[in-house]
Amino acid sequence: MCGIVGYIGNRHATEVIMNGLAKLEYRGYDSSGVAVNTGCDLEIRKYKGRLSVLEQDLDKNPVEGNLGIGHTRWATHGAPSDENSHPHYNMNESIAVVHNGIIENYMQLKEDLIEKGYRFNSETDTEVLAHLLDHYYAGDLFDALCKVLKDVRGAYAIGAISKDEPERLIAARKDSPLVVGLGESENFIASDIPALLSYTRKVHLIDDGEIVVLTKDGVQIYDCDQNPVTKEVMNIEWDVEAASKGGYEHFMLKEIHEQPRGIKETLTKRLDENGRIKLDDIHLTKEDIENISKVYIIACGTAYHAGLVGRYAIEKLVKIPVEVDIASEFRYRDPFVDENTLVIIVSQSGETLDTLAALREAKKKGARILSITNVLGSSIARESDDVFYTWAGPEIAVASTKAYTTQLVSFYMIALDMALKTGRIDDAEYKRMIEEIKLTSGKIQHIIDQDSKIVEIAEEIKEKHNGFFIGRGLDYNTAMEGSLKMKEVSYMHTEAFAAGELKHGTIALIEDGTPVIGIASQEKLFEKSVSNMKEVKARGAFVIAIAQEGNTEVEKVADRVFYIPKVDDILASILTVIPLQLMAYHVSVMRGCDVDKPKNLAKSVTVE
Ligand code: F6R
Repeated sequence: MCGIVGYIGNRHATEVIMNGLAKLEYRGYDSSGVAVNTGCDLEIRKYKGRLSVLEQDLDKNPVEGNLGIGHTRWATHGAPSDENSHPHYNMNESIAVVHNGIIENYMQLKEDLIEKGYRFNSETDTEVLAHLLDHYYAGDLFDALCKVLKDVRGAYAIGAISKDEPERLIAARKDSPLVVGLGESENFIASDIPALLSYTRKVHLIDDGEIVVLTKDGVQIYDCDQNPVTKEVMNIEWDVEAASKGGYEHFMLKEIHEQPRGIKETLTKRLDENGRIKLDDIHLTKEDIENISKVYIIACGTAYHAGLVGRYAIEKLVKIPVEVDIASEFRYRDPFVDENTLVIIVSQSGETLDTLAALREAKKKGARILSITNVLGSSIARESDDVFYTWAGPEIAVASTKAYTTQLVSFYMIALDMALKTGRIDDAEYKRMIEEIKLTSGKIQHIIDQDSKIVEIAEEIKEKHNGFFIGRGLDYNTAMEGSLKMKEVSYMHTEAFAAGELKHGTIALIEDGTPVIGIASQEKLFEKSVSNMKEVKARGAFVIAIAQEGNTEVEKVADRVFYIPKVDDILASILTVIPLQLMAYHVSVMRGCDVDKPKNLAKSVTVE
């Protein structure tokens, strides 16, 4: 949700910034811009459209300078346009600012500034920052920003430069991610680590309320009262390759293919020499678990779908009641949470604002917070009592794939660990299940190897406008995830239904040729699921079934069947989602959609 980059050093600032923005385009891609201190002026370029529009302009008319800031936008206030693009600037164009987040009280601030004679060029909330900086500026941009931050309410990661201070880049953070990269005679800011990896692996993770002053030779961090803060340097171990396409046509496809390895990383690195789960960052004792009266799982989107599977795993294995909630709903319904509640927060990015706000709300009420996240040192990780990192590697495609399957494995591991500690599972079953989870990695690979069958199915449905995903139990959760994937990357309107529920109204929408993807992986629900497929088939649907190998009965009903390898029912969700991810991917490519950057979306949603 908007990406910012800033540079100070000896290189061409635009080169570094454009390289960084390209890595952050997943955060928003409806406009972009840069501001560079040329030594005598601030040169600002900004355009509606993809980063390539800005790139073409900079290729034609390069901007010289070693200090600059850049931005890639996902519009919140004001439609995508040149004017609403960042950087924003004051009236004499001597101060420029980029911002990710929302200034909640910008209307009031804007009115006050207009009364003082300031003129606005855009409809954005960010522009107030530029004029406020101008208002407080008396030769020291750091001092001016400290004053501005006392006036504003909301969420921000900010980068600011002044024409009159060619030696300094100033940045600040509250509730929106910000990292500082440390180089030799050069320093950087960015919304996310991949933007910096071509230049440095040494970073500071900036905390809420901190303000940073960067020169080419050093970085100084202050708290909101301008007291210096000492911060550890983090060394990033993953390589640039992990954040690039590595020969695949799209990040989404690469990330689908990375799932066998992702699952292995998540699982096997947490097994000790006896093959038992060791969760070093989770400190729940037997007594802690026995005191838990209820578990809430809170997340958004795909992470929420992982939470639905997580509920099943925890209820079945640990035998504690679990509720799953959408983060943006949880906070506003006054949920019953106390010190005996365990709240599991699921978030790939660790920065989703609704999820973070739900975490804070639950914490305020005394709950213990365990988070499952992919991003090291993210806000959610830092504010949790216990953290389970999914170790899926950077997920760049907007549509989440490998984060989801590693989240599922995380849930199974947490549930197995809790069940063993409390004696709710016996040793033999515990070990058997770990072995079964280990096997899922190879089984996913087997599914991916049959991609050509999915391509054929995609060909048959690519022209359709509507479709349904149906399933029972765990398969219903997978149906929800499959439907979300299809909608977001191919723009085909699909809905997910509990297979038994469809006939209570929605079946009226089935017409000749309507694609219905029926998932039937659960042995004890198999016959009922097949009956539900028959119901839609009788009304003209084109039925595509996903079933476990050997359950050939389904061929009598379905027009097409895709078999997943045999697997324990409880673990089937790790496999059933793979053909659905591939199907969404191929339909998207066939329809000419922008797979990695679907319209209207952004990867990390840092607005409520
Ligand atoms: C869908 C997708 C989104 C995210 C959701 C939560 O493919 O990626 O639905 O799952 O925005 O994001 P995180 O997990 O970063 O909190």
